[in-house]
Amino acid sequence: MSDFTSGVWDYFVAIISITSIAGCAVFLKMHSKVRAKLDEQGRPQTTDHVWDEDLREYQQPMPRWWVVLFYLTVAFGLTYLLLFPGLGTRYKGVLKWTSVGQFRSEVATADARFGPMFDAFLHRDLVDVAADPRAHQIGERIFLNNCSQCHGSDARGGNGFPDLTREEKIWGGTPEAIETTITGGREATMPPLAAVVGSDDDVKDLANYVRSLSHSTHDAARASRGQPKFVICAACHGPEGKGNQQIGAPNITLAVLRYGSSVDAVVDAIQHGHHGVMPAWKDVLTPAQIHLAAAYVYSFSHPAAGAKPDAH
Ligand code: HEC
Ligand code: HEC
Repeated sequence: MSDFTSGVWDYFVAIISITSIAGCAVFLKMHSKVRAKLDEQGRPQTTDHVWDEDLREYQQPMPRWWVVLFYLTVAFGLTYLLLFPGLGTRYKGVLKWTSVGQFRSEVATADARFGPMFDAFLHRDLVDVAADPRAHQIGERIFLNNCSQCHGSDARGGNGFPDLTREEKIWGGTPEAIETTITGGREATMPPLAAVVGSDDDVKDLANYVRSLSHSTHDAARASRGQPKFVICAACHGPEGKGNQQIGAPNITLAVLRYGSSVDAVVDAIQHGHHGVMPAWKDVLTPAQIHLAAAYVYSFSHPAAGAKPDAH
C-alpha cells in the first residue's frame, strides 16, 4: 500500500523517525552525565530559581530508574522499526509483516478450523441443509458478515436491494437458482425508455397503468390511456408484468416495489432505467459457505424447512 505518490516521502518519514529516536538517546546521554554539585558547605547547589519565596530547584541528576526506562523505550523503538515496516514504504522490516498477510493467515487458520465442518454440509441437499438448525446458525453468521450491508440484517432489503424473505425471487427461487445467484452474481439492466414511450404525459399514463396492476393508488383515466403502451414493457416484464427470471426483470404487479412503490417511482424507472448488481461470491466464499448462505436464504420462504419463522 502506498498513499504517497512521491518516493521522497519515504526518506522524509525514515529520516524524521530515526533522527528523533537518536536525538532522544543523545539528549538522555548528555543529561545522565549531570552529577550533583555541592557548594563549599557540602550542600547540594541550586539553580538559583526560587518560587514562593523559599522553594528552590536543586541541581540533581535524573533518577536512575527513569533514565533506564527511557533507554528501554529508545531500544524498543529501534527494534520495532527494524522488525516492522515503519520507515516509509521501501523498507519492509525483517519480519516482512503486512496487514494483508496477517489477514490472509487468519483466514487460512479459520478455513483450516471450520472448513471440514462447513464441507460436511456441502455434500448434503440444500433443502435438507436449510432444515438443519446448526447450518441455519452458520448461515446466519455468513449472511450477517457478508450480505447484510446490502440486504439488511433481517434480509428484507431496501431501496434497490431485494427482499430475500419473499418466496418469489427475481432470479428464481429454486435452491439451484439461489445458489447460482450467489456464486456468480447477477446484473440486471433496464434502459431508460421515456423516449420510446412518448411525452411526459404518456409516461405518467403508463406509470398509472403499471400501478393499477397491483390495485395501488392510481388515476384510473390515465391508466386506461396508458394501457396500450404497456407492450413496450411486456417485452421484458411479460404480457402480465409478472417478470422474466432469465434477465432479472422483476414482477411489477406487486404492491411493494424494490425501487419505490409510487406512481412517481415508476415514472422514474421509465425515465432513467435501473441497473442492479449483485456481486459474485465465488472468489470470496468457499463453495461450502455459499451452500450454507443459499440454504439460509432458502429457509426464509420455506420455514417448514426448519428455520424458525420468528427468527427475524
Ligand atoms: C429491456 C428490458 C426491459 C424493458 C423493455 C422494461 N424493463 Fe423495467 N426493468 C427491467 C429490469 C431488468 C429491471 C430490474 C432492474 C434492476 O434490477 O436494477 C426493471 C425494473 C423495473 C422497475 C422497478 C421494479 C422494482 O421492483 O422496483 C419498474 C417499475 C419497471 N422496470 C417498469 C418498467 C416499465 C413501466 C416499462 C415499460 C416502459 C419497463 N419497465 C420496460 C427490464 C426492462
Ligand atoms: C453490494 C451489495 C450486495 C451484497 C453485499 C449482496 N447482495 Fe445480494 N443482491 C444485491 C442486489 C443489488 C441484488 C439485485 C440484483 C438485481 O438488480 O437483479 C441482489 C440479489 C440477490 C439475490 C436474488 C434475489 C432475487 O429476488 O432473485 C439473492 C438470493 C442474493 N442477492 C443473496 C445475497 C447473499 C446470500 C449475499 C451474501 C453472500 C448477498 N446477496 C450480498 C446486492 C448485494
